[in-house]
Amino acid sequence: MCGIVGYAGNRRVVPVLLEGLRRLEYRGYDSAGIVYQENDQLTKYRCEGKLSRLEGIVGDAIVADAHTGLGHTRWATHGAPTTENAHPHTDCSGRLVVVHNGIIENYHSLREELKDKGHQFTSETDTEVLAHLIEENLVDDLVAAVKKSLDRVEGSYALGVMSVDFPGQLIAARNQSPLVLGVENDGGTFMASDIPALLPYTKNVIFLEDEELALLEHGSYRVISLRSGEQLDKTITEIDWNAAMAEKAGYKHFMLKEIFEQPQAITNTVSGRINIETGEVVLPEINLTEKQFQNIDRIFLVACGTSWHAALVAKYWIEKYARIPVEVDIASEFRYRSLLVDERVLTVAISQSGETADTLAGIRRARKLGSRVITICNVVGSTMTREADGTLYTHAGPEIGVASTKAFISQLAALFLFTLYLSQVRDTMSSEQRRKLGQDLIDIARTVEQELPRIREQISEMIETFYDCRDFLFVGRGVNFPIALEGALKLKEISYIHAEGYAAGELKHGPIALIDKEMPIFAVTPKDSVYQKTISNVEEIKARQGRLILLGTEGDTHLNNITSDVIFMPKVHEDMNPILYTIPAQLLSYEIATRRGCDVDQPRNLAKSVTVE
Ligand code: G6P
Repeated sequence: MCGIVGYAGNRRVVPVLLEGLRRLEYRGYDSAGIVYQENDQLTKYRCEGKLSRLEGIVGDAIVADAHTGLGHTRWATHGAPTTENAHPHTDCSGRLVVVHNGIIENYHSLREELKDKGHQFTSETDTEVLAHLIEENLVDDLVAAVKKSLDRVEGSYALGVMSVDFPGQLIAARNQSPLVLGVENDGGTFMASDIPALLPYTKNVIFLEDEELALLEHGSYRVISLRSGEQLDKTITEIDWNAAMAEKAGYKHFMLKEIFEQPQAITNTVSGRINIETGEVVLPEINLTEKQFQNIDRIFLVACGTSWHAALVAKYWIEKYARIPVEVDIASEFRYRSLLVDERVLTVAISQSGETADTLAGIRRARKLGSRVITICNVVGSTMTREADGTLYTHAGPEIGVASTKAFISQLAALFLFTLYLSQVRDTMSSEQRRKLGQDLIDIARTVEQELPRIREQISEMIETFYDCRDFLFVGRGVNFPIALEGALKLKEISYIHAEGYAAGELKHGPIALIDKEMPIFAVTPKDSVYQKTISNVEEIKARQGRLILLGTEGDTHLNNITSDVIFMPKVHEDMNPILYTIPAQLLSYEIATRRGCDVDQPRNLAKSVTVE
């Protein structure tokens, strides 16, 4: 939620800020703003709407001879997405500015207090109190004023502060909202909500922790603890992503590019982690001993959104192959319900970003109750990876499209690997069986790669009769039931068509009442161990004249008798079907959304990284 970028160095700052915001726009895009220091004054541009509007307004200022500045792209929490509420926010003097991601929970009382002292507010945001609070506390040291102000603040923040009275300085501070620093070879320093904003300039990053503050200048940075005031020795981490990975590379949309990157994402996630001669799985970063794994009697998988769907698939795999009971929880429920978690429970948080507020709160709670925590995560150094006992990284590369695609597929690959690893440490499978399943996982990358262009072509022809429908159902059974949920979510997110995913056998308990000749139903019907049961459900749909799109196994001619809209997929091991059958579900949503003229990379009301509750 919300993207922050800041720079102090030798470069012209305006293009750096705009480029940074462009790379962070997936975090929020209802308004945007930048501010920079020049000739003892602050120049600020803000506007409602997407970054492209701001770029238009900035115009000639792009070449301003300014070298220190801040930028922000917003996902509104407090106050409508208007220009007045867009960041940066200024104090009364107009000499100090603030950009912020997070929520200041006690903003109301602070605002009243500051108003009583004569401060004039110009927006409805919680953020503006920070500008006035710092102004109130500022004597002759900006760091001290920010620190003193943050002592009064309850809630979450990633903060950028700048004042013309302290030329060339930027202050960054963090509590429960992500913020990374970047250090360029020539001494330029950066702050950003996420790594992609830094990639054109540097791969050397420093992850700020909660309750830390940094003073950035050209040629130096200093990090202190907000609690003790002590200076901290921070480690620089080199990121192995590059700037091109966060570009569209000739594709019309990030989402399409990321769908086509999925074979590589699987390969990157799996490679080096399974020995295909012996079937041995090696996951060193997981950081738990075999004994600790043997002592577990239950696993909780905790996640949000698409990552939750990956967890649902994993439940089938883990219970089948590693024989441990698995509970799957939506993180926003897990964090508040009465939990039966103790030291015999392993909690696995699944998150692309590693920053989702509810998932993070979930793992903190599980740890307090004695559980060990592992995170399956795509972003190196993200908060979850630093708080968990161990990490299993997915290697999907940066995912920019708001609707998650390659991150999901790589989560599935990682979770299947994790299942094989559990079967190894708990001795629930022969190494030969593990070797074969490992090979199936490796092979699925190639199958996906081969099938992608054909599936896309077939779907783009097929959607002409479906793209303008009002509702959609997705059904699947067993390990493919979560794929029905994921297909429905993708369609809702990017095309704004109402869609529901159902377990095929559950249709008759209610949703079947919706079926008539107008209702399209996307049914996942591979030739697997529950094929006959799924086909019976499909027949029930047909009997009620539902418009079926079937997704089945090559050679299953029976499907052609049911409907003319059949997408055939190659036969693979049935536990690989969730990976394979996700591809047409993603492409169906993508093609329908683009046909309807929707902005697939930046769907309305959504943000990629949800760092508020
Ligand atoms: C947001 C995104 C989804 C994502 C979910 C969880 O809602 O739009 O695509 O699945 O957050 O994010 P995470 O980073 O924890 O996987």
